[in-house]
Amino acid sequence: MSLRLKIFLPLFFFGALLFTYLYGYWMPHSLFYAEEEYRKSTERHIDSVMEGIVPFLLSGQIDTIHENLNTLMHKNKHWLGLQLFDPAGKLIYPLQSSLKPDIGNKPDIYTIEKQIVYFETKLGRLTLTVDYGQRLNVIRSEHNELAFTLLLSTGVFFVCIWFVLERVVSRPIKVIANASKRLADGDFDAPLLKTGQDEIGTLADSFCDMRDAIRGYQTELTRKNESLKEEHEFLLSTIESLSHPFYVIDASSYRIVLANKAAYSGPVIPENLTCYYMTHGRSGPCSGEDHPCCIAEIRKTKKPAVLEHTHLSDKGVKNIFEIYAYPILDEKGAVSRVIEYCIDVTEKRKADEEKEQMAAQLLHLQKLEAIGTLAGGIAHDFNNILMGMMGYCDMARYSVPEGSEIVEMLDNVLKAGKRAKYLVQQILSFSRQTEQMKTPLKIQDSIEEALKLLRASIPTTIEFRKNIDTHCEPVLADPTQMHQIIMNLCTNAYHAMRKTGGVLGVALKKVDIERDGHTTGMILSPGEYLKLEVSDTGHGIEHAVLDRIFEPFFTTKEIGEGTGMGLAVVHGIVKSHGGHITVYSEPGIGTTFNVYLPVLKQAVSAREEDPRNIRPSFESLPGGNERILLVDDEEEIALMGRQILEKLGYSVSSFTKPLDALEALHAKPDSFDLVITDMTMPLMTGLEFAHKILALRKDMPIILCTGFSELINGDRAKVIGIREYVMKPILISEIAATVRRVLDRKDNVSGN
Ligand SMILES: Nc1ncnc2c1ncn2[C@@H]1O[C@H](COP(=O)(O)OP(=O)(O)OP(=O)(O)O)[C@@H](O)[C@H]1O
Ligand SMILES: [Mg+2]
Repeated sequence: MSLRLKIFLPLFFFGALLFTYLYGYWMPHSLFYAEEEYRKSTERHIDSVMEGIVPFLLSGQIDTIHENLNTLMHKNKHWLGLQLFDPAGKLIYPLQSSLKPDIGNKPDIYTIEKQIVYFETKLGRLTLTVDYGQRLNVIRSEHNELAFTLLLSTGVFFVCIWFVLERVVSRPIKVIANASKRLADGDFDAPLLKTGQDEIGTLADSFCDMRDAIRGYQTELTRKNESLKEEHEFLLSTIESLSHPFYVIDASSYRIVLANKAAYSGPVIPENLTCYYMTHGRSGPCSGEDHPCCIAEIRKTKKPAVLEHTHLSDKGVKNIFEIYAYPILDEKGAVSRVIEYCIDVTEKRKADEEKEQMAAQLLHLQKLEAIGTLAGGIAHDFNNILMGMMGYCDMARYSVPEGSEIVEMLDNVLKAGKRAKYLVQQILSFSRQTEQMKTPLKIQDSIEEALKLLRASIPTTIEFRKNIDTHCEPVLADPTQMHQIIMNLCTNAYHAMRKTGGVLGVALKKVDIERDGHTTGMILSPGEYLKLEVSDTGHGIEHAVLDRIFEPFFTTKEIGEGTGMGLAVVHGIVKSHGGHITVYSEPGIGTTFNVYLPVLKQAVSAREEDPRNIRPSFESLPGGNERILLVDDEEEIALMGRQILEKLGYSVSSFTKPLDALEALHAKPDSFDLVITDMTMPLMTGLEFAHKILALRKDMPIILCTGFSELINGDRAKVIGIREYVMKPILISEIAATVRRVLDRKDNVSGN
């Protein structure tokens, strides 16, 4: 129902009610009261008439009565008839009964009848017929006029109200409603009527203000929407540009809310796709050490976390993923979503490990270099000192009578000297400062020989168990160094079982390292290797120190018992032979060392003869009577050498200055059969000296002795024409054998 009708209808009902009241109640009552009033005044009039005619009735003056009543009849036009009867009912007035009023069917005719009594004496009866029609009709017409006027004005009022409502209320409201509708459709420009300062005008103005505000909000909203859209696009493309999987997970349901293509390649993410199913195909949340659940972790801490997932492929290849997880908290501070970013770090880990290994190797090399420098520096002097000490001791040993108790003392001094010499050798071998003489070698022979030596010195509480494949192919190796390996490993094994006894196992066999090298856990190129296994049932090695045993100078032995260089040397030798060494040890059970050495492919006969000297007894020392020129810048050593050689039967000229020696040689070039010279001397090195000698006599045999020198090695010495190259300190037996060997080979070797 329209507002206009709503306002109009009550007015209409009110009008109808008013008219009903007027016609139904007020007008009839008004007529009735008027009629009553007329009747009462007529009765009062009749009463006064009756009072007036009583005297005339009593006196019988009928004429006077007629005269008075006629006058009255004449004056009161609305009196239709007046009749006076005597007590007997006989008409006194008017004289003719025909004068009875003709009332017809007029509606407003009233008859009033009154008894005329005088002190209880009935004098007669008066009847009056009155017509109020004229008077009442006046009132009626007044009523009708009033009703008509009212009706007309009400009608006009209603029409006016109708149009005013239409113009002032309905139309503007319709316009506002229309504008609202268009506003709802997004049209901000619908016209609005200006209705002035009334309520509707205020409403229209408010509407306009509201519309302007909405337009402002709309513009702002559109702008914000656009920038949000741009940001959204930017974020999406940023996420998409990530090459690693990125996704957002609902923390309560584990559902994937957002994922980039690297995480999920399908067109739309299915509604119930969970993170554990998408990443691992699992039916429940991740768990365990290899797959910890990021959401559970983040729920605990509410802080970003980095976790690691390890995957094994069908082929057993291990892949490691780093998962960076970040919490998104709701307004209550609870974790509502989790952002995860996964990076495959398998390659990086490998690279890191390699880097660490390289750093360790570098450190190792640096240590080697430092030790090498140190060793090189001290070896020469140290060996010369030892040479003096051991030489004189050896001489004394040969000089004292057999059975003297001094022999044992001298032997102990010599033993200590040998240990010192051995230590220098170990240090030099470790730092690769010694010459390597690699030759095709049947290592099984070296093992047998070393074990023979060991058996002699190791108590029988230790059982030797050999399992050596005698048909093993040769390896390209330095025999001395191979000997060192076996001796060091077996000595360690013996030391581990010294108190308890046990089994020392030595095995040798050929193995084939598989192509990927994974099965053995070693970094060895695929191929055939000889595997030397040295095992013992000794006390084993604590796991805490297992990583350190190859370090130089690492030892658990008492001072004087071990130098800590054994395994470091073994390791260095094995590496320099392109091999590898592993260790397995269980404390209280025993230890096993495995040495892998590459098999030499071409078939070559292994060296028949081991160059190491077998020490002769004093009596059997080879001697001679040849003439020897001896040069050593250290006087004691020159003297000692001379004494030794002379004791061996040779005639010796010793010099401390190479130039003096050269002079002597120059004077009589043929007066010497052999030259023994030191290497490191002031003014002239042994090499230069040798050059000069060979320039004088190119077939002159020369033995070069050195404490230690980087300038020369055995091969180089031979190229120059030097027959032998010996390391100080050297024992008498070694001197005797070397001199004899060189002198005996003199004629076979052609000088330069
Ligand atoms: N077979 C083994 N059983 C138990 N422990 C061993 C064994 N081999 C080596 N070790 C441990 O490794 C350490 C280092 O050995 P390494 O041979 O390098 O030095 P060392 O034996 O102490 O001294 P060196 O060999 O120089 O005389 C030893 O001190 C010992 O603790
Ligand atoms: Mg050792």
